Amino acid sequence: MPPIPELMHRTFFRALSLLPPQAQGMVLGRFFDWRHRVPDPWRLSTDTYERQKYEATLEHVPRRPYRRIIEVGCAEGAFTRTLAAAYPEAQIVGVDVSARALARARRRVPGGGRVRFVQADILTHVPEQRFDLVFCSETLYYLGRPDRLRQVSARLAGLLVPGDGVLVAVHPWPEAGRLHRYLDADAALSRLAEEVYPAPPRPYAVTIYTTRAGPPPA
Ligand SMILES: C[S@@+](CC[C@H](N)C(=O)[O-])C[C@H]1O[C@@H](n2cnc3c(N)ncnc32)[C@H](O)[C@@H]1O
Repeated sequence: MPPIPELMHRTFFRALSLLPPQAQGMVLGRFFDWRHRVPDPWRLSTDTYERQKYEATLEHVPRRPYRRIIEVGCAEGAFTRTLAAAYPEAQIVGVDVSARALARARRRVPGGGRVRFVQADILTHVPEQRFDLVFCSETLYYLGRPDRLRQVSARLAGLLVPGDGVLVAVHPWPEAGRLHRYLDADAALSRLAEEVYPAPPRPYAVTIYTTRAGPPPA
């Protein structure tokens, strides 16, 4: 059985996911603005564990140029800044539901015009363009019930160019097994690899997907 704080966490976000999608997004926005009432509430920019997780995440990305990258649930831009350094030629978009987190992200990652931050709920967000690399880390467990995880998995797949887009999902292990199941089941995605890191204090899994080719033109 999962520990009590994790059960409470799951129950809270599952209850929110009983709301209609727009209302769920609005409450999540308020909730995460409150979580960000103090800077960097998860110490993403200072914690050694987080830095090592970011390095491990990037090691799994297939080596090739990426022109358009999106990070969903980017918080205050700690990983976005790492991405901007790792892909100096790419256009990068960070998306988060919290306006307060994004205000700090914009200060943290200036990016000279090639890094943008957009306030949106990933469950409903439809960007103007598709991306060849998508990151989703430490965010899916906020979506709640299975139906929402299925919807958000389809949204994430829909962010990618068909054929050779790459999606990187990073979540605590063993919960990642449950969260990434909906990505596994999405017809547009195919799993390339997964590595589980038994890193204390929280083991995690990095799972890589690629997009299947789109339907042939009629
Ligand atoms: C724990 S932080 C993860 C930050 C970053 N991905 C990382 O791993 O360093 C989770 C972030 O997800 C955001 N978030 C939660 N639900 C979201 C949603 N439905 N749409 C967009 N962002 C969301 C929160 O506002 C929060 O900033």
